[in-house]
Amino acid sequence: MSLNPDSGFDRVASFYDLLARLVFGSSLQDAQRWLLPFIPSGSTILIIGGGSGWLLQQVLFHTSPKHVVYLEASEKMLQLAQQQNSFPAIVEFRHGTDGNLQPHERFDIIITPFLLDLFQEQRLSQLMQRLYAVLDPGGLWLFTDFWPVKQKPPFWQKLLAKSMYLFFGLLSDVQGRELPHYGRHFEGLGLKEQQSADFYNGFVQSKVYRKI
Ligand SMILES: C[S@@+](CC[C@H](N)C(=O)[O-])C[C@H]1O[C@@H](n2cnc3c(N)ncnc32)[C@H](O)[C@@H]1O
Repeated sequence: MSLNPDSGFDRVASFYDLLARLVFGSSLQDAQRWLLPFIPSGSTILIIGGGSGWLLQQVLFHTSPKHVVYLEASEKMLQLAQQQNSFPAIVEFRHGTDGNLQPHERFDIIITPFLLDLFQEQRLSQLMQRLYAVLDPGGLWLFTDFWPVKQKPPFWQKLLAKSMYLFFGLLSDVQGRELPHYGRHFEGLGLKEQQSADFYNGFVQSKVYRKI
């Protein structure tokens, strides 16, 4: 067992992307790509839980940020991300979790790509409060995750969610057991939903939230 459950993705880092492709095709990437046009040029960006780095490449290719912090709990995932390319000095790779954010840091954009589903409600609430604290007023929280569009999701979506929790619970110490009530957390923080899109037949949603 890993001492820090957030870092359990070391064990699946070598095959995570392939597995995601096999199960979801290009849907998870499409859901993340949809967020990119919302990033204004000159932004200070936090990507947390970006995994092996595909999203970072996309951000650098399609937008013109001022500074990007790439914060990853899994050392192996972080290494994979760093190996992908030679990166401009505006990119800061940081090994750690939301607990490694400094109180004085501020971001215009925070991206949580398939991160928030990993946690049980209490830990999720802590993580989201920490992210909210470093998001500038007027800043955007770009969310993408497994979040069924239908209030009563079809059987295949429930089965798929259960299988993922079982698999990643065993292999990566993922603590969550069911998809969280993300909406309640965003509302509790006072974030306002601006735009939304769904993917993979309504099993995945991407949303843009603004901090007022
Ligand atoms: C389900 S994977 C998603 C990876 C990537 N975003 C993707 O879609 O391919 C979640 C990632 O979040 C990282 N992670 C988990 N908890 C974290 C935390 N508290 N802070 C930073 N990264 C975290 C894991 O190491 C893992 O790489």
